[in-house]
Amino acid sequence: MNPLAQALNQQIADANPHVLEMLSDLGANLYFPKGILSQSAEAKAKAKVYNATIGTAVEDGIAMSLASVMGTIPDVSPNEALLYAPPAGNPDLRSAWQAKNLADNPDLAGVPMSLPVVTCGLTHGLSLIGDLFVNPGDALLLPDKMWDNYPLVFGLRNNAAFHEFPFFAGDGFNQAGFAAKLDELANSGVKKVVVLLNFPNNPTGYTPTEAEGQGIAASLIGLAERGVNVIALIDDAYFGLFYGADPMRQSLFTKLAGKHPRLLAIKADAATKEVFVWGLRIGFLTFSVGGVAADSPLYQALVSKTMGCIRSLISNCSSLSQVVVTRALKNPAFAAERAAKVAVMEQRALEVKRVLANPQYAQAWTAYPFNSGYFMCLCIKGVTAEALRLHLLDAYGVGTIALGDTDLRVAFSSLEFGQIEDLFVRIYQGWQDLAKA
Ligand SMILES: Cc1ncc(COP(=O)(O)O)c(C=O)c1O
Repeated sequence: MNPLAQALNQQIADANPHVLEMLSDLGANLYFPKGILSQSAEAKAKAKVYNATIGTAVEDGIAMSLASVMGTIPDVSPNEALLYAPPAGNPDLRSAWQAKNLADNPDLAGVPMSLPVVTCGLTHGLSLIGDLFVNPGDALLLPDKMWDNYPLVFGLRNNAAFHEFPFFAGDGFNQAGFAAKLDELANSGVKKVVVLLNFPNNPTGYTPTEAEGQGIAASLIGLAERGVNVIALIDDAYFGLFYGADPMRQSLFTKLAGKHPRLLAIKADAATKEVFVWGLRIGFLTFSVGGVAADSPLYQALVSKTMGCIRSLISNCSSLSQVVVTRALKNPAFAAERAAKVAVMEQRALEVKRVLANPQYAQAWTAYPFNSGYFMCLCIKGVTAEALRLHLLDAYGVGTIALGDTDLRVAFSSLEFGQIEDLFVRIYQGWQDLAKA
């Protein structure tokens, strides 16, 4: 093992040996090299005469640039737009995102955690966690309603052993089913469980209530109390898009961060959906574990390992995207602008609910509960979701997503308010064509 990895592992073990046990083999071996990037960072601070360290080009004291490039982004300087960002992200973006998370999740005030690490979108963040913490065969618990990229990330790439629980019980989160699965895993003797939860959920658009959130947190803390190392990976892709009074308003991460030494909570979030900047590819990872102070070397060691993983995959994330998101976060109008867009999405969600209240639809489908996010999902009766999807495409010019045999996902986020009723009329007509054929 590289001595730098050994030193990071020692820092982690000294602060909390359970976190060292949680790392995958790759995670244990990862380190951030004292190579070009760290030597260049030292030079940036000290080399006041000449800095001949890094492979970027300088002219007249600033980043060399072409007018044909900079002409598109006149408000951004060549240095900001074109130079490499640090592997963990620009410090001002990291602190601005943390400030946003603290404002959105007031219960996090004073809770020890790492600074967010910038990732190239949330998918990249999830892959990093897979690499750092998942060995082949490690138990991964997640609901049966899940984003279809999870099997690719954690199944195909990391070979995790998937354990699923039914997401819903009646109109709400299946607390009993979730707790039973955790119990089953603990009884099977596993030493470590990765739990992946995503609220607002893709594909259903459901976020648990405050009481359900408390139940989920209590189950996870209970598992840690039984001596199992728990990595709670909270995918907050659609955070903030909460409609009506029911969904809990703060991230589940808030109920897990700093709560138990065997419970490592990881907040994976992104500007992608929250800030409506899908293609900019800006995501974040924040770590928190119980019994460890905010200034503990453990957090720096986890960040260094994450940096090593980033360095080996993509080296670093787009500077220009980081500048755009940082400026938006620091803009005094940001919160109001975002609230206005959330209100637009909420109106669409409420319109979907109004339209679906039509009793004629009961023979064709039931809608899963939804109260948040970009999507809602229909459980189709009598015909397969895939057959209906194809028929809707061919006969009605309507695109939806079929998931499994029964589920049809509708992204109301991409429909105008006035299109929603007609969309469901068309889905119903398509269903009638097939059901009566
Ligand atoms: C639940 C969930 N997590 C993560 C992502 C990925 O987000 P990003 O585009 O930032 O990689 C998505 C995108 O669809 C998602 O639905």
